[in-house]
Amino acid sequence: MRKVLPILTLILFAVALILPLSSPQTVESQTATEALTTDMDAKTDDLFNGFGVKGTPIDECVNEPVAPTARGNGRFEDNKFIFSERETIADGLGPTYNDVGCVECHQSIDVGAFGQQMEFRAGHITNGAFVDAPGGQLIHARATDSDIVEHISTAETVKAFRVVTSTLGDGFVECLANATLENNVAAQPLAQRGTLTNVPVVEANNALRHGRFGWKAQQASLLSFAGDAYLNEMGITNPFDGFGGRSSNAADAGTNENPASTAEGVINVTFPSPFDPVQDPEDDGDDVLAFADFMAATRAPGRQNPIPAAAVRGDSLFTQVGCAVCHTRTLVTAAPGTLINGGAFAVPAALGNKIIHPFSDFALHNIGTGDGIVQNAGQGSANQLRTAPLWGIRGRNRLMHEGLNVTIFDSIQLHAGQATTARNNFNALTAAQRNDLIAFVLSL
Ligand code: HEC
Ligand code: HEC
Repeated sequence: MRKVLPILTLILFAVALILPLSSPQTVESQTATEALTTDMDAKTDDLFNGFGVKGTPIDECVNEPVAPTARGNGRFEDNKFIFSERETIADGLGPTYNDVGCVECHQSIDVGAFGQQMEFRAGHITNGAFVDAPGGQLIHARATDSDIVEHISTAETVKAFRVVTSTLGDGFVECLANATLENNVAAQPLAQRGTLTNVPVVEANNALRHGRFGWKAQQASLLSFAGDAYLNEMGITNPFDGFGGRSSNAADAGTNENPASTAEGVINVTFPSPFDPVQDPEDDGDDVLAFADFMAATRAPGRQNPIPAAAVRGDSLFTQVGCAVCHTRTLVTAAPGTLINGGAFAVPAALGNKIIHPFSDFALHNIGTGDGIVQNAGQGSANQLRTAPLWGIRGRNRLMHEGLNVTIFDSIQLHAGQATTARNNFNALTAAQRNDLIAFVLSL
């Protein structure tokens, strides 16, 4: 009995020391709960996270899908169907485009996730600054007429491919408060500290918010990204397409097609040009609402189940060598009701106060892989990229922004610049430890 007490005191003391360390999300986590996750198996019907109404799968022979009229007032299954539709020229497809439907590129493991397609961006340097290729930096792969297929000249010396990123769980990411991202970045050591972008929210009169979506964190809201994608990937003009930096309030929002950059110069292909038979806007915005709400209502990618023993061993190594500095393990979404997206969207109950494990800080870093392309975060972002979220990474095998890497090992070796220390620490591990760390990454 006499020996038990001091031991007990010691144990209690140790527990008191460890407790605050193991729950770093102090205030928020008191009410926060883990976000729902999908098992990353397309055969399981578990994508819906509870944002809005689920509805029933659409059978077109029985009923047409109905799009939302404002964010959150539609049905998940209808939105998923609209996200999965293939568009035609009569719907406004093209004149220049990359593919015929969102799901063509965002499909594996499940609707909304990954694809092996790559976008192509190009431009040149004038007086030390990146300048878009004539007609725009996005060079479309396809067109509805061979006369307007885009061909850049050799003057465009800055060129980059970008592979598809997954949208699963992005509703939670949208609901991360600016301050949460700021506090997270502020806690990073100076040498590795990330840069948060400030990008316009098209549906909020271009109010600025920290970007979080895309390889350059070039968008902050799912509605803005979806409007941009409908025009840039499919050629479908809509009020949220942000063409020329327009907000959705602009009188001429949604009335411009991307010009075609051809060998004979830049051609305006907007209706009533001979290349475009459909009056603009080609979508009044309801499809875009459906896309945004579908993505917002998807669950976060869940861990491999069961987690292999090697991955369990590699878990602490990931933090130990410094990967988690940028690939942030845990963030908590804003409380339900919080106004985000420049005031255009209130955090819904299903997405608020949720603990997520994105393995990203959603900030830009220079890790030596920069592609020189500047989107909307200024010239300083030319060689920076967003820390790639690693959740769900086991579901894809085309890695890094160009999608030209096929192993985790090689991806780590490409980490230089701000990630040099982490890479060197990784290389200093034993071969068995390196394999465990890779097994951990592939269990996310
Ligand atoms: C031709 C293939 C293609 C099509 C079609 C496509 N996308 Fe994408 N999508 C991409 C690529 C490539 C990226 C990464 C782009 C980047 O960041 O430069 C991406 C990224 C995204 C992201 C950002 C996800 C994240 O968290 O980083 C969203 C959201 C998105 N797409 C929505 C859509 C919607 C909505 C549609 C349909 C209107 C669509 N996409 C159609 C290729 C495509
Ligand atoms: C200084 C910040 C930083 C650190 C530290 C860091 N990363 Fe990254 N990581 C990034 C950025 C930025 C990218 C995207 C780079 C690109 O695509 O060009 C990335 C991409 C990746 C990718 C590719 C993901 C994909 O979707 O294609 C993997 C895998 C990865 N990191 C693993 C690791 C591992 C493992 C470590 C530790 C050894 C680590 N990273 C350390 C910033 C960092």
